[in-house]
Amino acid sequence: MKDTIDAVKGQGEALTGRPQWQALSLHAEGLRHRQLHEWFADEPDRGERLSAEGAGIYLDYSKQRIGDETLRLLIDLARACNVESRVAAMFVGERVNFTEQRPALHVALRAPVTESIMVDGVDVVADVHAVLQRMGDFADRVRDGEWKGATGKRIRHVINIGIGGSDLGPVMAYEALRHYSDRQLAFGFVSNVDPVDFHEATLGLDPAETLFIVCSKTFTTQETLTNAHAARDWCVAALGADAVARHFVAVSTNADGVRDFGIDTDNMFGFWDWVGGRYSMDSAIGLSTMIAIGPAQFAQMLDGFHAMDVHFRDTPPERNLPMLMALLAIWNNNFLGASTLAVLPYADHLKRFPAYLQQLTMESNGKHVTRDGTPCDYQTGPVYWGEPGTNGQHSFYQLLHQGTRLVPCDFIGFCQPLGGADALSQHDLLMANLFAQSEALAFGKTLAQVRAEGTSEDIAPHRVFEGNRPSNTLLADRLTPRSLGALVALYEHSVFVQGVIWNIDSFDQWGVELGKQLARRTESELAATDTPDLRHDSSTNALIRRYRAARNPR
Ligand code: F6P
Repeated sequence: MKDTIDAVKGQGEALTGRPQWQALSLHAEGLRHRQLHEWFADEPDRGERLSAEGAGIYLDYSKQRIGDETLRLLIDLARACNVESRVAAMFVGERVNFTEQRPALHVALRAPVTESIMVDGVDVVADVHAVLQRMGDFADRVRDGEWKGATGKRIRHVINIGIGGSDLGPVMAYEALRHYSDRQLAFGFVSNVDPVDFHEATLGLDPAETLFIVCSKTFTTQETLTNAHAARDWCVAALGADAVARHFVAVSTNADGVRDFGIDTDNMFGFWDWVGGRYSMDSAIGLSTMIAIGPAQFAQMLDGFHAMDVHFRDTPPERNLPMLMALLAIWNNNFLGASTLAVLPYADHLKRFPAYLQQLTMESNGKHVTRDGTPCDYQTGPVYWGEPGTNGQHSFYQLLHQGTRLVPCDFIGFCQPLGGADALSQHDLLMANLFAQSEALAFGKTLAQVRAEGTSEDIAPHRVFEGNRPSNTLLADRLTPRSLGALVALYEHSVFVQGVIWNIDSFDQWGVELGKQLARRTESELAATDTPDLRHDSSTNALIRRYRAARNPR
């Protein structure tokens, strides 16, 4: 407890005024012209030395623009910011979500049943396993056809309705683990309040074979409730009102909201306010994942998460993957001036992983004031974005290689293909591209090399690659439920460490509220039959008037 009090007190000092921050600024200035090829020439063992491994994931960070001294200074900064005691506080369920006075206990969602974590006198690990047991029973019944629709047909289509963390985790995990899924079942994900999302997801489906999982932590989210009502209307129109009980289940913390909507709370799977939406894919929010891959493989995913949790909690910073990833992100963002970070999975199954990470990272660390409300005089969370390789190579990689901005990259790859030996040669090609890209970004191609190829003088500058563009490479043996869990936990914890250093609350999301409020007011103006008295700014007023004039052509 004393540690936590000291930690919070310690965080009161301005970050940029800390000697450790200033030492890093000076150090960065001294390294401004240092090139990656020089580091590699001076340190023959760099490629293997600047690496770390944990929970089945290998991190090569040798292509970052750092030396041993940089890492030492970054770890000093982390220590000065009391990262270690804040991590310990998170693991034991202290209210690290300061503005909402809640723990952030996603680590409890994957803790083994033998562990116990107490929140307000309750062992939350026991609660987690009770819900997992109910989810497992239900998932098995859907998978083996015992759970039938209202007309007695078995379920063939499962549609998850949710948004943000109640969608991005489930859809990312489903895509990532498709290889392990029951192909007799088809999965759809409806998130957008745009009516075409629901329409397209249900087009051609038989309501009698369709199960909806309505996922909403709060059960008040406008988009989700609107789509859930559309789904209920669609179901009731075909099967009658009594069918709702066989075709709808809910995942929520809000039993009253679920009941009011008309779903029997016997068909509700609960979770808790100490699970943040963007940290919830391994809670009951993962019910669609569990139905897809089965309870046993879901348990393997939880094991992967837990293995990374243990690594994060128990490994010294020098070998701690989430800590290293966080410190490198801080270095690139705050000392080298990079404002974005590209996530480039060389695995088509991870196509939704960058979108998932966007919520995890940017909703967590897109903050402008410190814990005591002081404006941050340094950059906080960078913009995360990305696409799977090799596709991205044929679109935006041009800018990564020759643009004027520094864009650090996280390359993610797997050593074994999912298709077995038959897919090996094509997988080799995929991975050759990954390794080639990080090499090209780091070492580039000089003017002399371009000239030596016989390129004419006028074209030669266009064919130069400056290099010195930093990247991490993350490798796991194979994309499995376990490695996916470890990968997600790696980013979760990296986000938290960054937030601790920036002295912000990584677990709230007040920045989404204003737009929600304004939309509620605007919605009634768009559909008003009388001419509404618009009291927005002149731009918004004009846009609303134009929309109203054109919205319903007859
Ligand atoms: O508006 C942002 C947000 O609150 C996210 O944090 C959350 O994941 C999402 O909306 C969905 O919320 P809910 O699960 O309560 O519907």
